[in-house]
Amino acid sequence: SLPQQVKIVEVGPRDGLQNEQAVPVEAKIELVNALAHAGLSYIETGAFVSPKWVPQMADSTAVFDGIERLDGRTYAALTPNLKGFEAAIAASADEVAIFGAASEAFSQKNINCSIAESLKRFAPVIEAAKAHNMKVRGYVSCVLGCPYQGEVALSDVAYVAEQLWQMGCYEVSLGDTIGVGTPLHAQRMLASVAEKVPMQQLALHFHNTYGQALANIASCLPMGVATIDSAVAGLGGCPYAKGASGNVATEDVVYMLHGMGIDTGIDLNQLVQAGATICQHLNHGPRSNVALAELAK
Ligand code: HMG
Ligand code: MG
Repeated sequence: SLPQQVKIVEVGPRDGLQNEQAVPVEAKIELVNALAHAGLSYIETGAFVSPKWVPQMADSTAVFDGIERLDGRTYAALTPNLKGFEAAIAASADEVAIFGAASEAFSQKNINCSIAESLKRFAPVIEAAKAHNMKVRGYVSCVLGCPYQGEVALSDVAYVAEQLWQMGCYEVSLGDTIGVGTPLHAQRMLASVAEKVPMQQLALHFHNTYGQALANIASCLPMGVATIDSAVAGLGGCPYAKGASGNVATEDVVYMLHGMGIDTGIDLNQLVQAGATICQHLNHGPRSNVALAELAK
């Protein structure tokens, strides 16, 4: 049945801005602060990854240093390895996330190692996080398709998700990295992962390339999933998939959830303003129907 409350994981400052033209660090800080004030309780604020791989995230330390820390908010960061984890600790990130893939080819292109090697590299990050009493989130990319290998077996998705969970991730986020999934496929994928990892520990992370993300989320909510990743203004794209677009827009998810009577704790109006403001630094407007409709009022 539908969850009564849904936690939104706002990934715009990370997943969104990692794939947009460079924006000044002050604008990133303003965005994170505006999202926190709009009621987002979980904000993925940056990534401690190689600046050669993702130059847009090279200023993550300065972003963490510059933001206000509102009570009840989690300011999180991606950390692929111990070097990244140490930077996250130094920046006082509240939580970290490791990121693997269900597709071998994507794992190689994204983090330069096989799936098996990636799991080995994550183990010390999880150990170090435990020693710091820090929670670790896990991502699985390519759960509904891969830009290199095409179809991805549901059993491969479930396997990697289960590994991350058993290694100690408190939540596993299922990424339709290139936004190719459709509702029944998304349901089948979620059902097969939920056989291995409890539904309460799963999140949906759907990109919107083919315009299916909201439909996919709507089709999965009645299965009980209660955590949704999204990016304000639909920010983003994918450097490894030409033409891929950003995450489902937070404005669209919040509007839909509120229409379903599901509580999010988020102020839609403030959220729309946060998205419009960051888009002033980009060469496009908000990629959210809800934001465009609200701004036209
Ligand atoms: P590598 O080249 O195999 O790593 O990259 P390495 O350990 O051999 O190090 C190479 C160089 O990187 C060295 O520097 C290291 O110091 C440096 P050099 O000696 O050449 O000057 N380095 C680092 N620098 C800063 N921070 C670090 C770090 N680690 C090494 N943490 C590595 C392996 C994982 C580092 C690299 O492939 C990488 O950074 N990949 C990140 C890719 C990325 O961020 N992708 C986007 C995020 S994932 C995503 O968007 C999907 C998601 O949204 C879910 C979905 O949608 O599906 C999560
Ligand atoms: Mg993503």
